[in-house]
Amino acid sequence: MIIAQTIKKVKEVIRRVKNKKIGFVPTMGALHQGHLSLVKRAKKESDFVVVSIFVNPLQFGPQEDYKLYPRNFKKDEALLKKEGVDLIFYPTPKIMYLEGFSTYVEEVYLSRVLCGVSRPGHFKGVTTVVAKLFNIIEPDIAYFGQKDYQQAQIIKRMVRDLNFPIKIRVLPIVRDKDGLALSSRNSYLSSEERKSALVLFQSIRLAKNLVRRDIVESRLIIKEVKKLINSKKYTKIDYVEIVDPLTLQPLERIEKRGLLALGVYVGRARLIDNAFLVSPKKKAKV
Ligand code: PAJ
Repeated sequence: MIIAQTIKKVKEVIRRVKNKKIGFVPTMGALHQGHLSLVKRAKKESDFVVVSIFVNPLQFGPQEDYKLYPRNFKKDEALLKKEGVDLIFYPTPKIMYLEGFSTYVEEVYLSRVLCGVSRPGHFKGVTTVVAKLFNIIEPDIAYFGQKDYQQAQIIKRMVRDLNFPIKIRVLPIVRDKDGLALSSRNSYLSSEERKSALVLFQSIRLAKNLVRRDIVESRLIIKEVKKLINSKKYTKIDYVEIVDPLTLQPLERIEKRGLLALGVYVGRARLIDNAFLVSPKKKAKV
């Protein structure tokens, strides 16, 4: 496994394997089974697997957890080696953002809702760094998790709009046994807070049960979910929404498919989760 810290070194390696199918998994490190599920799929589908580990300062707001974000390169390196990864790109902010950096990539429609409301500039930071990583690594396929559904949709839009010759795969959310979606930010939770954090998964179950009973008005589902979340200690709702999975705009009712999207602070951790809600009528037709 090659570890490259500079762009020059990555480019050299990539030039040598240009005839191979390159699979790429961008990450911010502190790796868990969610990240590794993407790596495993990349291993299956491509001949040369690249993982980037870069805590991207551009996507953190001034009051956010950039400094606090967990970093553990040695552990990440060992995990990736075990998966048979070919190349880790592990740059510093100085390498990624030269003095006077002043060019950005911004998606302006899907980025304005859900997480985009309370995290202005976040997705601009994500699209900018991912566009740079795509240009540096030139992968054939890049892998993202449904855990960050909005992010994946925005990346797909960017790739379409700016003609990146890259296939985007979005893979399912990996959860702990108790249902909590794996996240590097779960390490901020105390054991008491972690119990409260289960309310995200409980909310998904509640919403699915309501839809199963043909309660498909978003307003009613959202009201019940908010009640449940507010009943737990340490929680503060950022948003609870039911949106069209393609446009991310609010849906009044679930006629076919809706996406339940949750953003909830638990203690100091800001957690997100989501799930598709499918109308029973739609299911019956299938
Ligand atoms: P990070 O949070 O490290 O996540 C890297 C990738 O792992 C993302 O595509 C994310 O959706 C996926 N992932 C995280 N938790 C997951 C889970 N429980 N199940 C499945 N997939 C999961 O997302 C980022 O980094 C950054 O924004 C990045 C794209 C690297 C740009 O800086």
